[in-house]
Amino acid sequence: MHVVVITKHGGPDVLRVEDRADPSTGAGEVRIGVAAAGVNFADMMARMGLYPDAPKPPCVVGYEVAGTVLELGSGVQGLEHGQRVVAGTQFDGYAEQVVVPAGDVMALPDHLTFEQGAALPVNYATAWAGLIGYGNLQPGERVLLHAAAGGVGIAATQIAKHREAEVYGTASPSKHEAIRAQGVDHPIDYRSAGWERELPPFDLIMDAIGGPSFRTSYDLLRPGGRLVAFGASSLVSGQRRNVLTAARTVLRMPRFNLIRQMSQSKAVIGLNMLSLWKDRETLEPWITPLRGLMDERVLEPVVAGAFPFDRAGEAHTMLQERRNVGKVVLTP
Ligand SMILES: NC(=O)c1ccc[n+]([C@@H]2O[C@H](COP(=O)([O-])OP(=O)(O)OC[C@H]3O[C@@H](n4cnc5c(N)ncnc54)[C@H](OP(=O)(O)O)[C@@H]3O)[C@@H](O)[C@H]2O)c1
Repeated sequence: MHVVVITKHGGPDVLRVEDRADPSTGAGEVRIGVAAAGVNFADMMARMGLYPDAPKPPCVVGYEVAGTVLELGSGVQGLEHGQRVVAGTQFDGYAEQVVVPAGDVMALPDHLTFEQGAALPVNYATAWAGLIGYGNLQPGERVLLHAAAGGVGIAATQIAKHREAEVYGTASPSKHEAIRAQGVDHPIDYRSAGWERELPPFDLIMDAIGGPSFRTSYDLLRPGGRLVAFGASSLVSGQRRNVLTAARTVLRMPRFNLIRQMSQSKAVIGLNMLSLWKDRETLEPWITPLRGLMDERVLEPVVAGAFPFDRAGEAHTMLQERRNVGKVVLTP
């Protein structure tokens, strides 16, 4: 089978299509023929050498796929051969076939394409965990979503609107119309100086920009507010790792003071789906609540671009150059 390999740390040109043996299916596992594989910001960071949790190159990354069931291992119930499914993969998703535990597989609703399916597991589980699971978002609350036009951002907008929250969203100005169409009530151009002035205080903020943005977000919370810190996009400043920018960003991450937090009554929540997934050994607790909302068409993934495996570099470049509105996927 074909896979996309990160051959070494570097720019998009280090991504190469190679042949690998088809994976074999063990007890309790499912083999899936991949029709689309999700591309995540973390994959790009792994390629650049900015993601310590990723495997060392040469390696195959990718956290999620959509496709059809090719084989069921012994003991697997509730799934059938040929069924359209989505699945979480702890790496190895950029491949023509994957084998995953049955608990990480979910039926793909008929009205969604494979490309939309590949946008579901990571982005929607992360948005659900941040807003609802840990953020406890309530109807009428005011929420600020950073990178609202991105994969997680659009998922979070759809979930927050369903919860009847008032949504502020940051994005490059060219994307404001698109995020408004998704439900963002107040688009914000966070690349213009002083964007944070004059904003009302927030009940909940989802921030994966990192660096000094965490401090700004914390300061924008009202008492009782929750900051969900779940990434550090600002570590990325070009196509290759820039050690100076990365070090500067890390140094500018705020160190939170628990006594101050207590007296201001503000919560800071760290969220890493990979840690949760490894600990629970399944993504199921964050995927199952989404099922009904998908069937009701409340959650509709937006696909920004689909690239064949041999153009995986272009897929990464689209994310890195901030040209995406929604999810970028690969197709074998
Ligand atoms: N903790 C977790 O479990 C978890 C899970 C999923 C994702 N994440 C994190 O969430 C963030 C969003 O992930 P995603 O996959 O949905 O990506 P994404 O938001 O679809 O794509 C990146 C977007 O982020 C914005 N951005 C901000 N700073 C950027 C920078 N320095 N370089 C490039 N783009 C930048 C750009 O939008 P604008 O044009 O609007 O600036 C860009 O289009 C990432 O930091 C990712 O690591 C964390």
